[in-house]
Amino acid sequence: MSRSFRDALSSFATGVTVVTAHHESQDWGMTCNSFASVSLQPQLVLWSIRQSASSRAAFVHSGGYTVNVLSGQQEGLARQFSTGSMQERFAGVPADRLDTGRLKLAGGSAWFDCALLNVIAAGDHDILLGEVKNFGWTPAEPLIFARSQFLAPGQLAACD
Ligand SMILES: Cc1cc2nc3c(=O)[nH]c(=O)nc-3n(C[C@H](O)[C@H](O)[C@H](O)COP(=O)(O)O)c2cc1C
Repeated sequence: MSRSFRDALSSFATGVTVVTAHHESQDWGMTCNSFASVSLQPQLVLWSIRQSASSRAAFVHSGGYTVNVLSGQQEGLARQFSTGSMQERFAGVPADRLDTGRLKLAGGSAWFDCALLNVIAAGDHDILLGEVKNFGWTPAEPLIFARSQFLAPGQLAACD
């Protein structure tokens, strides 16, 4: 795996999300920056999951996922949901349970609750195409991720 390929990709600034699922009576969540919009009508989005991720089965077999777009105050959650057990990841995190059974984290910039439409195998990842069934957004400015660094809103302007 090319370090230089990863470095080049990391020049593309993204937002940061925590994607959640509810599978076999358990909550699942992982930090994800591969989220992207796909279609306005119908409303489609996607993200990709590493095929070797321990939570892959939960996201592929539970019928849907909720994308929580993190706000500038939530860098800690981005780190918390990238490692450790699911119990550790959700510990002390305020969240509401949606009708779909999945968790919507409090304090984010936006959220999209999606039905899983298709799983597309793509190299060492699977692309999870979802149809947005419910969504919302808040005035909280989004967290940004670029060159392996988290940037809170306002820091961008200071990057001359
Ligand atoms: C900023 C950031 C973005 C990430 N984006 C993704 C992603 O889009 N897809 C993915 O599979 N993993 C991504 N990861 C890594 C996963 O969060 C991590 O591998 C996963 O939570 C490991 O847990 P699991 O193997 O138990 O599922 C990202 C990590 C960070 C810190």
